[in-house]
Amino acid sequence: MVIVARVERFFTRKLTMKALFILYIASTFLGLFWIGFNFNNNVPQNSSKEDIAFLTKRLIELEKSEEHLKSLIKSKETNNEDLPIIFVVTPTHSRLEQKAELTRLCQCFMHVPKLHWIVVEDRESRSRLVENFLSKCKVVSSHLFVKTPDESVLKANESRWKKPRGVQQRNVALSYLRFEHSRSKGVVFFADDDNVYDLELFNEMRHTQKASVWPVGLVGKLKYETPVLDSQGKVIFWRTAWKGTRKFALDMAGFAVNLKLITDSPKVQFRSGRSIGMLETNFLSDLNLELSDLEPKANGCTQVLVWHTRTEKPVIKNEGKMLKIPVDQREV
Ligand code: UGA
Ligand code: MN
Repeated sequence: MVIVARVERFFTRKLTMKALFILYIASTFLGLFWIGFNFNNNVPQNSSKEDIAFLTKRLIELEKSEEHLKSLIKSKETNNEDLPIIFVVTPTHSRLEQKAELTRLCQCFMHVPKLHWIVVEDRESRSRLVENFLSKCKVVSSHLFVKTPDESVLKANESRWKKPRGVQQRNVALSYLRFEHSRSKGVVFFADDDNVYDLELFNEMRHTQKASVWPVGLVGKLKYETPVLDSQGKVIFWRTAWKGTRKFALDMAGFAVNLKLITDSPKVQFRSGRSIGMLETNFLSDLNLELSDLEPKANGCTQVLVWHTRTEKPVIKNEGKMLKIPVDQREV
């Protein structure tokens, strides 16, 4: 097994796509031949339980190596130089559950090739917690910050609809993209830190030409919101219970745009406008998009690949009872 592992590691490093493909075909063929040969020649008609168990085990091993070769081929394909980069923009603010939320995101994004995570803290400077966190997270990242002005921060007694969140943070990320990545081939996705993302979503958005759209689960007091398509697969309106008259009545997690649209319109930013809940629709309208430009994803918008989950605010009132145990400075 050690030798096999070494040989595989050698192949992983040295083989080209073509050679991998030939190896995959050859190993599948040889495997099938070997099984056929054993069945015809070595296994008597009344084969013992041991023979069958042995062959079953061998078959499982061969299936595993087939899977392994398939995944090698896939990873060779996905590391392709020409593959557009997915820029994921995440506004984030300090709170008890922040590290837990970011951990969930990091461990998801780790599995996505060519993903660049732009984390923007709602603070006057970078926090030690996020800095340490990103240094350990195995995702390419940029760490930015900007503090939301006091007058735009939601007061404790105000409804969450009153003032939009993450606006300045996303705008700083737009400036960063225009400044640092104006020549990159990519797609931009605004991923809040508290949502849940299916890995498949990133395959769906990767080759966005202008703007792609898809359903979002557990949002707007519905099981899901979604673009509604006509028989030609074009978006005609929106399944939403709130302000369906918006031109683009979707959530931030429900779209991605080609980076070129952002670099070609250097003045476009997120703005809430006079009415509430208009962030997304204003942004897409300002990019000069029309409904007919939208590229519906997730199998004609029939699949939910992102959920607008919200983490319950942690209650730590029992901390007061822990006075006898010395408090340490551990990071949570
Ligand atoms: C909904 C949408 O899904 C958001 O994309 C939109 O920004 C928001 O409404 C809005 O109306 O502004 P919701 O769950 O209500 O989302 O918002 P949060 O998840 O609380 O905040 C969105 C993002 O902004 C998060 O990544 C959060 O960490 C960040 N945020 C929140 C800040 O950077 N600063 C804050 O003070 C609060
Ligand atoms: Mn949220």
